[in-house]
Amino acid sequence: MAAEGPRGELDAHRSTHIAVLGKKGTGKTELAFHVFETYPFDRIAVDPNADIVFGPDVEELPEPPPARWPEWPAEALGRKPRRRTFRYVPDFGDPAYREDLDRVIGLAYGHPRTLLFVDEAHEAFPAGRVLPHARRALRQSRHRQLSMILATPRPLTVDPLVISQADWVYIFRLPNPNDRKRVAECIGWDPKAFDEAVFALGRFEYLRYDAGEEDLAHFPPLPAHVIRHHAAH
Ligand SMILES: Nc1ncnc2c1ncn2[C@@H]1O[C@H](COP(=O)(O)OP(=O)(O)O)[C@@H](O)[C@H]1O
Ligand SMILES: [Mg+2]
Repeated sequence: MAAEGPRGELDAHRSTHIAVLGKKGTGKTELAFHVFETYPFDRIAVDPNADIVFGPDVEELPEPPPARWPEWPAEALGRKPRRRTFRYVPDFGDPAYREDLDRVIGLAYGHPRTLLFVDEAHEAFPAGRVLPHARRALRQSRHRQLSMILATPRPLTVDPLVISQADWVYIFRLPNPNDRKRVAECIGWDPKAFDEAVFALGRFEYLRYDAGEEDLAHFPPLPAHVIRHHAAH
């Protein structure tokens, strides 16, 4: 097990794609948010469960979300934080919710050097049904310095590019054999060896696949002092 070493601090000067996979309650949102917090520039988080514990500077994106990056509110003059953090909570009851979600991805794509965190990413990047902004974000984000953290409990239900394009793939406990098979295929790892690595994971432990190094390492749980106690989803 890798005892020390990088927990995934983001290099702000290059576009980084991260996938976070694992069954509900395994620690995905905690880890994703921990990485999200290391990013120094503007950020958007899509928070379908409304369970992410943000800092005080968070700004809510309205429903429907805007087509352009929001201006500073007048009352922010003189006390602008160095980065802006937007949260979007999609309304699943709205017939336009997929289009609205896609518009938020377009918002991040159109604002260079943004970090986009999408929790429950199978909603915005569903396998076989990815809308235009999401498709562009998966294929062309590097040119726009768009970084992404995409988290989902069901690897089979997201577009395979979410996993195969990722620089880092974090894998928590994943009991479904078809999900494991999909992940192994996407990262080019021997399925049996991958299964064994996943079976060896204890509570809140995770694997990190580093695409640059072609390395799969086993990490201990995030330490207690970084845990914010997001509700499990
Ligand atoms: N390393 C950890 N140590 C202690 N508690 C953790 C750790 N990681 C996650 N938790 C807690 O476990 C619960 C589930 O974590 P969460 O990140 O919400 O899981 P997921 O997003 O995979 O459903 C949360 O209450 C969270 O605070
Ligand atoms: Mg979660």
